[in-house]
Amino acid sequence: MPETITITDDRTGKTVTVPIEGGVFPASAIRELDASLYVYDPAYMQTASCKSAITYLDGGSGILRYRGYPIEQLAEKSTFLEVAYLLLNGDLPTQAELDVWTHDVTHHTFIHENMRKRFVDGFHYDAHPMGMFVSALAALGTFYDGAKDIDSADSRHKQVLRLIAKTPTIAAMCHRFSVGLPFNYPDNDLSFPGNFLSMMWKVGDDYAVDPVLERAMDVLFILHADHEQNCGTTAMRVVGSSNADPYSSAAAAASALYGPLHGGANEAVVRMLTEIGSVDNVPAFIDSVKEGKGRLMGFGHRVYKNYDPRARIIKDTAYEVFEVTGKNPLLDIALKLEEAALQDPYFVDRKLYPNVDFYSGLIYQAMGFPVEMFTVLFAIPRTAGWLAHWQELLADGDQKISRPRQWYTGPNERDYIAMSDR
Ligand code: CMC
Repeated sequence: MPETITITDDRTGKTVTVPIEGGVFPASAIRELDASLYVYDPAYMQTASCKSAITYLDGGSGILRYRGYPIEQLAEKSTFLEVAYLLLNGDLPTQAELDVWTHDVTHHTFIHENMRKRFVDGFHYDAHPMGMFVSALAALGTFYDGAKDIDSADSRHKQVLRLIAKTPTIAAMCHRFSVGLPFNYPDNDLSFPGNFLSMMWKVGDDYAVDPVLERAMDVLFILHADHEQNCGTTAMRVVGSSNADPYSSAAAAASALYGPLHGGANEAVVRMLTEIGSVDNVPAFIDSVKEGKGRLMGFGHRVYKNYDPRARIIKDTAYEVFEVTGKNPLLDIALKLEEAALQDPYFVDRKLYPNVDFYSGLIYQAMGFPVEMFTVLFAIPRTAGWLAHWQELLADGDQKISRPRQWYTGPNERDYIAMSDR
């Protein structure tokens, strides 16, 4: 069977045959047929916008791999910093490489005092931490001369390091501001997740990082580090394609993540479970979703038409966390919801399974994070993925500034009408 596709323009009879590679054929075939012909593909449902060697996702089979490594193995054996190195560099680091990387990230965790004293202090007292986080990412770039020097490999590396190292600091700072607690400076003796937990929770000297929660945080960071061309990563690439600096591009990506259909879903799940209130109310809630009165948050995915492999790992992690924190009372409602949905033809027929957000919120809540922080917790590790895609974009000779075309459906030319005649 030839691995080609032939497209015929019935208006002209012109035919073009192009290769199919990896299930994809180039849109240049359409251009060859007729340079003024476009493909209408809202939400990029059927469009591969780039070539990428970072993350492999098979939604039908529930497979997720970073640089070829199964997510299950990384979650069990790796650390977030090692995974960030893997995503950014293509291979797992040697011990010496990991030591340098860990040292460098650890020693870039501090942020300029003005970020806290002038910038963050300027927010309204009840500002949403994710709104603060998005703005802080963009503002961070203004502190570094080299931020815009994206043609220099050294400068790019420096900005990558800064962004990965400083996002936990910014995240914790946004939380501490929200609750009116003094800011904790980073502690370079702690691990990446341990330092984050310490900046979040330490009051005076009275805080020791719990190793189970530290590991759980690291696993959650690993699971959220990348997910190929999702809405946020696409925003990163689109903005990055204009050669904007990585801080501005990451702020755009974080803005995309803020939406309730994307990274905001874990917050929505906890709100939904709280509203359901009891296991007895689950059947009525399922019925209301089927009647179109809202969605079952934390279920369904554009790509996964099977159980999201991250959801499986998170569910196991949840039980480990609950051993330390005590069980989140919403867990029973979540388990009942999952059981009911997975047996219901509405969800089965549409291939709607739990996604990464279904159980993550329960863990975060049990660990003490307010729901407003959930998307920020997603954004910290995803920064590594965004930057890996940003680097890949800049090195990709096929890429130009992103600029889709449109299908114009507005009025034809008409004359301006004077105000008195309208
Ligand atoms: N609850 C009820 N029905 C749903 C749900 C849901 N969570 N998700 C999809 N459907 C239905 C939808 O109504 C439609 O039914 P019909 O064909 O009868 O109109 C069908 O399933 C297909 O849905 P869609 O909206 O065309 O699917 P999509 O690929 O555009 O949407 C999604 C994907 C994730 C936005 C959607 O499943 C959703 O809104 N889920 C809830 C929000 C959520 O959990 N988001 C987190 C996604 S994972 C983390 C991330 O990537 O950020």
